Amino acid sequence: MSVSTEPYLYDPADRAAFYGKLEAELEAYLAGERDWLVNLANASALLNQRLPGLNWAGFYLWRGDRLVLGPFQGKPACTRIALGRGVCGTTARTRTTTVVADVNAFPGHIACDAASASEVVVPLLAGERLLGVLDLDSPRAGRFDAADAAGLEAFARRLVAGVDWPEGWDI
Ligand code: SME
Repeated sequence: MSVSTEPYLYDPADRAAFYGKLEAELEAYLAGERDWLVNLANASALLNQRLPGLNWAGFYLWRGDRLVLGPFQGKPACTRIALGRGVCGTTARTRTTTVVADVNAFPGHIACDAASASEVVVPLLAGERLLGVLDLDSPRAGRFDAADAAGLEAFARRLVAGVDWPEGWDI
């Protein structure tokens, strides 16, 4: 693993540039490593390190009929989320990114941490297969918008492609 230590900052006015650099950094962590646990652990740490204004960054993985807590950074969180429940379960059902500017206005939002005010959840998809979701929370309302969603979707695609997902095993 050879990772550049070149500093770069989250520039709200140029999210495309920021997410491009973030993806390049992810790429470096994925090089020579295809284990799902290793790569999701480092991906959650990378998101938490580089994105300002987060209080939680991590993954829920699809196991059989529900989402189960995976690698993350932040406070201990809810462990199991049914399909269609909360922002994560909604995203797993729709298989499209959910941006929530105000979690209190989202019906059924699951409050793992009362400090969370806004949230973005991105599905992890390998073709038709739902692997899980990427979830970011912020204590600031309106923290995430379409530019973040686009950057995080690209991040998720790169991550999914960089992992050998076990066959015949609900992650
Ligand atoms: N708020 C999420 C639950 C997961 S925590 O944010 C880590 C939801 O409504 O699905």
